[in-house]
Amino acid sequence: MWGGRFEAETDPRVHALNASIPFDRRLVREDLEGSLAHATMLGETGIIAPEDAEAIIAGLKALLADAEAGRLSFRLEDEDIHMNLERLLLERIGPVGGKLHTARSRNDQVALDLHLFVRRQAEAVVEKIRTLQRALLHQAEAHVETILPGYTHLKRAQPVSLAHHLLAYVWMLERDVRRFRAAQTAADVSPLGAGALAGTTHPIDPHRTAALLGLAGIYPNSIDAVSDRDFALDFLYAASMLMMHLSRLGEEIVLWASDEFGFVELPDAFATGSSIMPQKKNPDVFELTRAKSGRVFGHLFALLTVLKGLPLAYNKDLQEDKEGLFDTVDTVHRVLDVLAPAVETLRFRSEAMLRAVRESYANATELADYLVRKGVPFRDAHAAAGRLVRLAADRGVPLEGLPLEDFKAVSPLIGPDVYTVLDPVEAVRRRTSPGGTGFDEVRRQLAQARQAVDGPAPGAFPAGAPVADGR
Ligand code: ARG
Repeated sequence: MWGGRFEAETDPRVHALNASIPFDRRLVREDLEGSLAHATMLGETGIIAPEDAEAIIAGLKALLADAEAGRLSFRLEDEDIHMNLERLLLERIGPVGGKLHTARSRNDQVALDLHLFVRRQAEAVVEKIRTLQRALLHQAEAHVETILPGYTHLKRAQPVSLAHHLLAYVWMLERDVRRFRAAQTAADVSPLGAGALAGTTHPIDPHRTAALLGLAGIYPNSIDAVSDRDFALDFLYAASMLMMHLSRLGEEIVLWASDEFGFVELPDAFATGSSIMPQKKNPDVFELTRAKSGRVFGHLFALLTVLKGLPLAYNKDLQEDKEGLFDTVDTVHRVLDVLAPAVETLRFRSEAMLRAVRESYANATELADYLVRKGVPFRDAHAAAGRLVRLAADRGVPLEGLPLEDFKAVSPLIGPDVYTVLDPVEAVRRRTSPGGTGFDEVRRQLAQARQAVDGPAPGAFPAGAPVADGR
């Protein structure tokens, strides 16, 4: 492509380092879409003759069909997807293909491809997050009145509704959706027309190419346009947060599926066996969910490091933006694809959860609150409840296993109604504060979460606009 200036051939060892075609071939569709818009604009503005633009467009469309059928063959010597496709276009339509690269550089071209890729992938990831949220909602709907110990410091703390616990993940994922939407908005701008960095002398219409691609606008500054990868970092950050959330969910399922907890039975289809121990049913799916967060965090940090201290404008360093991004996309899809059906088919062991609540002193706060309602200052109530927990623990019984005289010995204000208050189901029911674990409150939160997941996207449609499919 640059033969004019060079006398010697490129050393083959350079190709191995320099070429990006082994991985950027993945941008074939985005690159052809970008070229189609560019060629259309070149023809419309008269920068190239309309019949030349037509020939180029026909050639590009044929290449797109070949790409979709997997019929394109790329060469390492052609370095990247852009030069490979240009060579294939020239082979197909002859020298007129050489006019496509008028008023364009690979610098604005590759930036455009990445914008289109991030925009598309953010959409695909959001759809899969929605599927996982629906699986969680489905389980939550079935388990409003299933209670388990809520934990702090991984110690049984207070009884909570299982639905309430699962909804916490739905809301974490809801924030992830917003972050992916933000990355999508950041990618929704066209760098095409920036050329190598300085713009072009040709009378281009970059707004037209942006519009043809459905992008919201163009960069105000061509130097920024070719060197900006913030949108890719936004995506990697959104993906890192998502994976961090999924790793927490994964970890809880691993814990809950353990023999020690026994809160959940893994569905056979999403569990794995041991090659030596016949009794084993392992939570590999959830362990890998936990572990795969690491590589995604790494990709975020790798790209931050590539960009750190990078002078303007385009530098070949920017080619390193791709592999981590691709691996992130693949990892996120692979994990979400399996997590949604796995969560959907988990069998929660309600009896084991209730037993864990009963075998704990998770109702000690109820006792303290009971005394507060009788006018005792909370600090004193806390101390009295603590003494009763110690007494019960010494005898190896739950709080409700103590006779009334023992309660009265610690505080004469305690009456027989204390036993109702200590009932863990009652303890959950009475937590009616907003966002709390009370059954009715959780039902309200469920409806709210359903609305967030299945309702119209915030700000996605102008107020009052008709929405055909109900979303
Ligand atoms: N393969 C390159 C990349 O991914 C394309 C842009 C190359 N531009 C250049 N001036 N060498 O960044």
